Amino acid sequence: MAKKVFIASDHAGFSLKQVLVQHLQEKGHDVVDLGPEEAVSCDYPDSAFKVTDKVLSGDGSFGILICGTGIGMSMAANRVKGIRAALATCEFHARACREHNNANILCLGERVTGKGVAMDLADIFLETEFLGGRHLRRIELFNTK
Ligand code: RB5
Repeated sequence: MAKKVFIASDHAGFSLKQVLVQHLQEKGHDVVDLGPEEAVSCDYPDSAFKVTDKVLSGDGSFGILICGTGIGMSMAANRVKGIRAALATCEFHARACREHNNANILCLGERVTGKGVAMDLADIFLETEFLGGRHLRRIELFNTK
């Protein structure tokens, strides 16, 4: 099913962002590219917060954030209440972060993950449903701290 996807990167994730925008559009998703428009040096928290704002205001929308490692993006995004950002480097991560953690943002590292694998991770992330049940109780505990 087609999803609304907000995507952004920093300079170190720019080229993977371009690949994923095209790939996800070809898959039929409604992709909104929040920048940058070229690979100029920029600060990844600024990009992260552009996407977190949109994901929180959207109805069931998802985000994808790409930096060099994916680590900085995930750290920044997870500071925002209501955001569950998951750094994924393998298919198991991409599936489990949806099934168990109801992740609403996928973080990727362009310096870590090849473009072909990254496309597969994005596909799995967007196609996998949250399992709910005991997993819902656990993610609700995030809001107790
Ligand atoms: C940029 O050099 C790099 O630090 C950034 O893309 C990211 O990997 C940070 O976590």
